[in-house]
Amino acid sequence: MQYFFGIAVPYLAMALFLGGFCYRVVQWARSPVPFKIPTTCGQGFSLPWIKYDRLEAPVKTSEVVARMFLEITIFRSLWRNTKAEVHSGPKLTYESSKWLWLFALMFHYSFLVIVLRHMRLFLEPVPGWVSFLGASDGFLQIGAPQMYITDATILLGLLLLFGRRLINRQVRYISLANDMFPLFLIFAIVITGILMRFFLRTDIDITAIKRLAVGLVTFQPAITSEIGAIFYVHVFLVSALLAYFPFSKLMHMGGVFLSPTRNMANDTRMRRHINPWNPDIKPHSYDAYEDEFREDMVSMGIPVEKELPPKADD
Ligand code: HEM
Repeated sequence: MQYFFGIAVPYLAMALFLGGFCYRVVQWARSPVPFKIPTTCGQGFSLPWIKYDRLEAPVKTSEVVARMFLEITIFRSLWRNTKAEVHSGPKLTYESSKWLWLFALMFHYSFLVIVLRHMRLFLEPVPGWVSFLGASDGFLQIGAPQMYITDATILLGLLLLFGRRLINRQVRYISLANDMFPLFLIFAIVITGILMRFFLRTDIDITAIKRLAVGLVTFQPAITSEIGAIFYVHVFLVSALLAYFPFSKLMHMGGVFLSPTRNMANDTRMRRHINPWNPDIKPHSYDAYEDEFREDMVSMGIPVEKELPPKADD
């Protein structure tokens, strides 16, 4: 079954990932957005001498881009995360809670670095930046092979994100299988990766893996020798993640760019937005209305503003 798990499943998963991802993005891009709905939480633009908040209520495209950039790179809106608690009294309190922001950032960046580091398996020769990333990530020089900092931080991030769903009552209440599954899946991918690198090193043939990985991306896949079962487990889990991705909440990766609450400018009071697919309704003033129906109105005894012109025989 090596060809099945090493070649067929990864290709199928990649096809589902790319096809599904494009499909979802195209669907979103085609969805009508008839209203301007940016989320604002700061002084909006009004009079030129009133200072407005360029990030919280952006008006220009450059400001929207700056807000998006900060949202995507440092999860700016999560910084405002609050914790609601009911105390005796009863008294409801909200306090700032930065844990989610910190661990979400830790998890996502660790994931990104791990994926980028993996490029050494797919690219030959290995680009300098990939080697540099690997060396920087392993600069603590603990163990042989060197332990990567991101292996520890992704596990820590995952544990907190999972723990939050278990311990926080409100979050537990709204957590669905679709929230837990990606956490478990990514956890399993990381654990099998770590097992492969640090504990079952002798079970895998890294040269054969590299040949297969380069073969997969150049469409000439080949399995040259026995690779080791743990590798297939790792790749199968990754394939499951790829196939699941477009149909899950993980699509927030693409969706964040298309989110109208984030990518729109707060300029409704400055620019009149005409919905492009509105029917072309010509204005009909009361004067014109009366001109059109004056005779009928007079005949029905309805008061008119302009009297009928006198008839010729009057
Ligand atoms: C979602 C994508 C993936 C994630 C999150 C992931 C995660 C990990 C992690 C955490 C490790 C431990 C060592 C390290 O951090 O480099 C690892 C190792 C490894 N992964 Fe992945 N992996 C992914 C995709 C893949 C794919 C597609 C392959 C197929 C070629 C692969 C092959 C390997 C191999 C061969 C190792 C051992 C590396 C070594 O010995 O240095 N991984 N993976």
